[in-house]
Amino acid sequence: MFADLEALSRDAAREIVALARASVAARGRFVIALAGGNTPRRTYELLAERYRDAIDWPRAAIVFGDERAVPPNDERSNYRMVREALLSRVRVPDECVHPVPTHGASAEQAAERYEETLRHVLGDQSGEARGRDAAATSPDQPMPTVDLALLGVGPDGHTASLFPGSPALDERTRWAIAVDAPTTVQPAVPRVTTTLAFLDGARAAIFLVAGADKRRVVSEILEARESARRYPAAMVAPRGRVLWMIEQSAAPASTLNAEPS
Ligand code: 6PG
Repeated sequence: MFADLEALSRDAAREIVALARASVAARGRFVIALAGGNTPRRTYELLAERYRDAIDWPRAAIVFGDERAVPPNDERSNYRMVREALLSRVRVPDECVHPVPTHGASAEQAAERYEETLRHVLGDQSGEARGRDAAATSPDQPMPTVDLALLGVGPDGHTASLFPGSPALDERTRWAIAVDAPTTVQPAVPRVTTTLAFLDGARAAIFLVAGADKRRVVSEILEARESARRYPAAMVAPRGRVLWMIEQSAAPASTLNAEPS
C-alpha cells in the first residue's frame, strides 16, 4: 500500500525497469502491454524523467492492453496519453511501438488488425520460448504473450476494456477484440481490448490502483470474496506473478493499519 500516487508511481517505475532488464537478459527483448486511463500516467512520466537510459528501448516491444476507438490524437486516446507522458520523451524507435490502429477504422476493423499486429510482434513463442522458458513447457499453461501486462481496475471491476458481463470475457482464442461502448464508465465509446487469453499469457502483471472509488472492488478481489468472481480484474490469471500496487485511498480497510510504503 502506498501513501499517495507519487509513491506508487515511483515504485511501479522501478518494478518496470527491473522486469525490463530481466526480460532482456533472459530473452533479448522486453515486451510490455501498457495500461490506459489516468493512474499509470505518472508512472510513465517517471520512466521518462528518471529511467530514460535505464531501459534498452530498442529492445522493447510496446503494445497496448486496450484502446478507445477514437483517433490517436483524440484526448480520450490511451496512445495519446502514453505518447505525451513517455514515448515522446525517450529514445524508443517507432518500430518498437505498436498502437491499436484506430485511425479511420471501426472498432471491429481495428481489433482484427491489432490481432495480426500482436501475433506478428509476439510471434509464435511456442518453440523458442518453450525451449528457454521452463514455465512454458506445461501444456495447460497459456501461450506466453508479454513479459509484463500493466493493468488498471475500474470501480466496476473492469480491467483493460473487459467489462463485467461482457461476451468478450468468453473469448479464449483471439488476443484482441472489439467491445461495445461501456455503460458503467467513461469514455462511453467502443473499445479494442486484449482478451483474457492474451492477459493470461503474461509472464507478469502489475495492477496500478488509485482512488477511493476503487476501494470496494479492490477489497472484494483481494479478500477473494465470492462476489469478486464476476469482476474481470479478478479473472486475469497470468502465467507469472501478479503484483497489486495500491494507493492508500483504494486499499482495503483491513490493510490500512499497515505502514504505507
Ligand atoms: C482505459 C483503461 C482502463 C483503466 C481503468 C482504471 O482504457 O480506461 O484501460 O481499464 O485502467 O478504467 O482507470 P484509472 O486508472 O483512470 O482509474
